[in-house]
Amino acid sequence: MLDGGGRIFSALEALGLERWDFQVASTIDAARRALRQDPGAIGLVAFDGVHAWPQAELVMLLARSEVEWVALLEEGLLRSERVSPELLRNFNDFHSLPLDRDRIAMTLGHVHGKAALLPRGDSSALAGGGFGMTGRSECMRLIYRQIEKVLGVDAPVLIGGESGTGKELVARAIHQHSARASGPFVAMNCGAIAPSLIQSELFGYERGAFTGAAQRKIGNIEAANDGVLFLDEIGDLPLEMQANLLRFLQDRTITRVGSTERVKVNVRVIAATHVDLQRAVADGRFRQDLYYRLNVLGLTLPALRERREDIPLLAQTIFDEQRVHASPQVRGFSSAALHAMMDYDWPGNVRELINRVQRAMIMSENRLLSVADLGLPPVVDPVTPTLEEIRTNVEREVIETSLKKHGNNVSETARRLGVSRVTLYRMIDRLKIVL
Ligand SMILES: Nc1ncnc2c1ncn2[C@@H]1O[C@H](COP(=O)(O)OP(=O)(O)O)[C@@H](O)[C@H]1O
Ligand SMILES: [Mg+2]
Repeated sequence: MLDGGGRIFSALEALGLERWDFQVASTIDAARRALRQDPGAIGLVAFDGVHAWPQAELVMLLARSEVEWVALLEEGLLRSERVSPELLRNFNDFHSLPLDRDRIAMTLGHVHGKAALLPRGDSSALAGGGFGMTGRSECMRLIYRQIEKVLGVDAPVLIGGESGTGKELVARAIHQHSARASGPFVAMNCGAIAPSLIQSELFGYERGAFTGAAQRKIGNIEAANDGVLFLDEIGDLPLEMQANLLRFLQDRTITRVGSTERVKVNVRVIAATHVDLQRAVADGRFRQDLYYRLNVLGLTLPALRERREDIPLLAQTIFDEQRVHASPQVRGFSSAALHAMMDYDWPGNVRELINRVQRAMIMSENRLLSVADLGLPPVVDPVTPTLEEIRTNVEREVIETSLKKHGNNVSETARRLGVSRVTLYRMIDRLKIVL
């Protein structure tokens, strides 16, 4: 339980809920440390109206652990602007104060039951992914389930998704968790190799096959024997190479350049593309038969902007991983930075997020990373009032209260507020105060 003043924790202890074992932390840092030692099942956050939690740090705490979070707060606080809806969204349940023994016992039982019911795969997903991936959005959970299914089958896999969405990460995860884990993982970027070299890169060559072929070279397909060949940017594979690859996928043999011998190879092909291959097929740039061969098992990774709810968790995970390289004073993200990250469209997806956070952590001179540190466009926050609006509100409140106190006597109110009667009348008019 996170409780700044410890008052609500004392009240909770006084209820004598013997079934539960509580631990209290008075700061977010302390809570983080406690969770690291004992992940617990339920996290309680007390909003006592006196101690305000720094919002960004709290959101990061709520995002990172495998905990069901319950907010304890005055009902009024739910509607006030002091606790933002964005923050409240991170809680699984709410309990209004004062604490009520039966109600809190029920809430705890309910969320604990829910935590226990979470499928195992899901809880590992919460911890950063059983596949080394971060994200617990609905679309990432779907991806984890799809990966599970792909593991037990040995057919080719086609992974789609924008650049930086984790296609290679998924390919490596499939390799590492499949029966081929002890075999090699050979990655080749079809878009980064000159078309004239792709044939020998894929299939290898014999000594003397062409000028400069001083000795036999094993191609990537052969090098991946008993393992996985990852063909990145498969859409860039020249058409005649597509025919050769298809032949290999059909009869599982290769012929090195400059040889006539057919070599049997046992390889699982995982291909990735950021372009729409179906469109490439329609345009005649990609062979339809190869497309069907590769796409037996297809999965498409969501863009980061399609799973914004994962951004706090990703940012925090990257932050923790990069900690050692950071400027020593950097402690986390500012609220504005969190806002800006949630608002931004991330054309470069997770890769871009990693780069921006990394750079900010090294270059920043702030304690909390700012929007400028991340190089993001500032968010115009519609709920933050301008100075002018704040002044107007304060003036109106002071004048209204004072008028009320003095029975709407303008002269007396003016005297008390230290302004002339005329000035006060002008202000009443401007602020549209009804007498
Ligand atoms: N879901 C994720 N969780 C954690 N890291 C991720 C995730 N998706 C991508 N990354 C990281 O982002 C970077 C880009 O991923 P990568 O697999 O190379 O993307 P792609 O191949 O789609 O361009 C890598 O550093 C990778 O580890
Ligand atoms: Mg890639």
